[in-house]
Amino acid sequence: MECERVQEGRTTLIVPVQDPNHPFPPASAHVFYNRRMEINRDATILFLACACPDVYLDAMGATGARGVRIGNELGIPVVINDRDPAAAALIARNAQENGINCEILCEDANTLMSRRKFDAIDIDPFGTPAPFTDAACRSARSYLFVSATDTAPLCGAHLKAGIRRYGAVPRNTEYHGEVGLRILLGFVAREMVKYDRGIQPLFSFSYEHFIRLHLGVKDGVKAAEATIGHIGFILQCPNCPFRSEVVGPLPWRETCPLCSETLAPVGPLWIGPVNEPDILDRMLQVLPEYTFGSAIHLQKLLLTCREELSIAGFYDYHALAKRLRLSPPKIGDLIQAIRTAGYPATRTHFSGTGIKTTAPLPLIDAALRENQPGPA
Ligand SMILES: C[S@@+](CC[C@H](N)C(=O)[O-])C[C@H]1O[C@@H](n2cnc3c(N)ncnc32)[C@H](O)[C@@H]1O
Ligand SMILES: [Zn+2]
Repeated sequence: MECERVQEGRTTLIVPVQDPNHPFPPASAHVFYNRRMEINRDATILFLACACPDVYLDAMGATGARGVRIGNELGIPVVINDRDPAAAALIARNAQENGINCEILCEDANTLMSRRKFDAIDIDPFGTPAPFTDAACRSARSYLFVSATDTAPLCGAHLKAGIRRYGAVPRNTEYHGEVGLRILLGFVAREMVKYDRGIQPLFSFSYEHFIRLHLGVKDGVKAAEATIGHIGFILQCPNCPFRSEVVGPLPWRETCPLCSETLAPVGPLWIGPVNEPDILDRMLQVLPEYTFGSAIHLQKLLLTCREELSIAGFYDYHALAKRLRLSPPKIGDLIQAIRTAGYPATRTHFSGTGIKTTAPLPLIDAALRENQPGPA
């Protein structure tokens, strides 16, 4: 396998040379490495700089990019696994290249997580994490990190696959990116509570074509019950932009208060905060101490997540304006108008044209009408 050296953060990585003409170059080499996931790895390093577990398992290491960086840049003891012997060999080269002393394993991740426990576990598979979540929920003591790149099933574009993998109906809404994240969170939560354990979402985001969760894990019936208290549904009107959120079992045939249509359930999914403000503040504080390739994007992401309201779903205000045959004003003007009318309103990291607000739809419509952009 022909290799080259690349730099990520303060770590030099030996990675396979890829075919730039391949439709997806990372898949052209025997061992997987995707430069575009650097922000995903940077985010976890920054998170771990603030959360510091005793030992971290990179359950699907590939080149070992993630685990080697965590060992090298944070000094946290790491175990790196991949069931592919060629990957395990490359992980060993990368560990040696960076002078880190880590345990390298070459076995099935589910077998490994079934026979040993780890303080923090990272599952970063190809596509769906669903087949690995149960074992990870049993094995993770304090933290569980999950990547998903199967955004089409999660977000409702491949409905049947979404239902099969996650036991939930995603539905393709204007806020489908957020539905995907909340369906994944709801799924992990349900996998965890079986074991009388609970999760707390600490830093969760969606970016380009992946979803990433950083979760705290707690033992006990109390923690499990608190987690169940966050499982619910979004009820979306199929006829107009109205939606509401409910926790607990699905209510029987709710109708839209604006147009009387029967509301369609989206879920079950996670209702409630997907981020923990204190951890985001700490991450923002220590970010300048690190030399991340994605620093600017990561800072923007953290700042947006920090202010984002924790209600489920957002309005695409361009779609709202189009429906009223209006021009979309500047997003800042619209947010300000809604706040002036007495309701909280924020941007969302899920979409540049998304607005989160508890304001009733007629009030948002009025704010759109009253804030029409003047002639250029
Ligand atoms: C998306 S790559 C991991 C990327 C890596 N974490 C990174 O940040 O560059 C997925 C890896 O999981 C490994 N894998 C797939 N199924 C596995 C299993 N059942 N147990 C362990 N490793 C597995 C593959 O060999 C592949 O190297
Ligand atoms: Zn309606």
